[in-house]
Amino acid sequence: MALTETASAPANPKVGRTADPCVMVIFGVTGDLTRRKLIPALYNLASQHLLSREFAVVGIGRNPMTTEEARQKLSEDFKQFATGPVDPDLWEWFSRRLHYLPGNFDDPKIYNQLKETLEKVEKDHGTHGNVFFYLATAPDYFCDIVRSLANVGLMKEENGHWRRVIIEKPFGHDLDSARALNQHLLKVVSENQIYRIDHYLGKETVQNILAFRFANGIFEPIWNRRYIDNVQISVAETVGVEKRGDYYDKAGALRDMVPNHIMQLITLTAMEPPISFEANAVRDEQAKILHAIQPFSSEDVLSKTIRGQYGEGTVDGQRVPAYRAEPGVPPDSKTETFVAMKLLIDNWRWAGVPFFLRTGKRLPSRSTHIVIEFRRAPFVLFRETQVDDLTPNQLIMHIQPEEGISLRFAAKTPGPAMRLGEVDMDFNYADYFGQTPSTGYERLLHDCMIGDPTLFQRADMVEAGWSIVTPMLDVWKALPPRNFPNYPAGKWGPKEADELLERDGRSWRNIEK
Ligand code: BG6
Repeated sequence: MALTETASAPANPKVGRTADPCVMVIFGVTGDLTRRKLIPALYNLASQHLLSREFAVVGIGRNPMTTEEARQKLSEDFKQFATGPVDPDLWEWFSRRLHYLPGNFDDPKIYNQLKETLEKVEKDHGTHGNVFFYLATAPDYFCDIVRSLANVGLMKEENGHWRRVIIEKPFGHDLDSARALNQHLLKVVSENQIYRIDHYLGKETVQNILAFRFANGIFEPIWNRRYIDNVQISVAETVGVEKRGDYYDKAGALRDMVPNHIMQLITLTAMEPPISFEANAVRDEQAKILHAIQPFSSEDVLSKTIRGQYGEGTVDGQRVPAYRAEPGVPPDSKTETFVAMKLLIDNWRWAGVPFFLRTGKRLPSRSTHIVIEFRRAPFVLFRETQVDDLTPNQLIMHIQPEEGISLRFAAKTPGPAMRLGEVDMDFNYADYFGQTPSTGYERLLHDCMIGDPTLFQRADMVEAGWSIVTPMLDVWKALPPRNFPNYPAGKWGPKEADELLERDGRSWRNIEK
């Protein structure tokens, strides 16, 4: 395939419009996120004709390197992290658009140098003055970087060009710090210039929740308290804290997963139909759900939340160390690696329907899924049969690693007697659509380049997410756990997580079944 053809090919109407001409400035270009996700995602966009041919990247990092050396390094990394077959001509085209600027983010000089570099890159690649800044840095730098960019005029939108900044969680560590971060940012840029990424919204299966609910006539009429008994959201990981002990020990499972990723899953599952797919129409409905979640009193925290920390154990047949023995974790750490809770949404649709959540590290299998459990059918008809019990129907949205949707229902088992077995009707993404090479960042980067913030978090949503969990953080801090570690690696968290549902006459969906 000739290179310029690839790069200048018209947008494919099936996949979407080509992004605006622009420069992407990556702060922290030598880090993991850039090589594992951002560069492969940009390449995938280019190969799908979604990247403008008037595009360039300027990477800023601490390593003293030339642009040529940086290109070589990124090319090496790309061989390792590309998500599909690589077209060498296209990579060559892409890599010629990569530029490197060595420097420290806290050195004011770097921002003037960046300004000069951008003027040159703009001339060479015809990027129309549009720039987005991706802060792939520790969150402590967010405010200073954005302020320094604004100080040298790099955030100013004039003459029809746009300037945007992408940041990724954590957005603060509780409600107050999240508010402070938003206030600082909003002093120097406007809300519509800030793109707060939650990488869960880059997942096709998460985006599909809306399509599934609102593009099909049969589910919405039963999507409410009259038909649904409870909703269960599990985000189970087999990995431990890997090399992130330092960060994780300050965060813990609650902060790390709940106000962000899990709240996305809840809002998409529970929200009302928006009046359109326009960004604020969708986000307004999500925000309403966050505001409708019943606030936790201290008693609620004690009775409706469970925390756990893993001890040593066996995962996937391998012995693994206890959390407290992981690098960067203090030997007496009280940080939770597992959390479960029951919450209620105080609105007309969901009144009285419990939402059970659980997430944890070092669980027996990796699985993120949402279970919609329907009310049981009345048993009357089966009294005189060999059936002892009717099990509830479950609609399961498999987010990862399995990607699809299944419906579990009862069927008569063959034979003369009335006996029932549970069966599944399964839709699997790959069977229908094949595998699309993806890092999960393509859609998010592309949306930023076309100015569509639907899948990004607004300031009010971030703060609403923190308002829900802050009472838990406060009570947990006041009452440190005395029984940690309380589950061995390779088990489904502490037994209290099962009891949380058993008390209500319910149980977690058995993933191994
Ligand atoms: C990150 C958390 O935001 O999400 C990690 O900090 C977690 O602790 C990760 O492992 C999970 O993401 P995914 O896409 O693997 O489910």
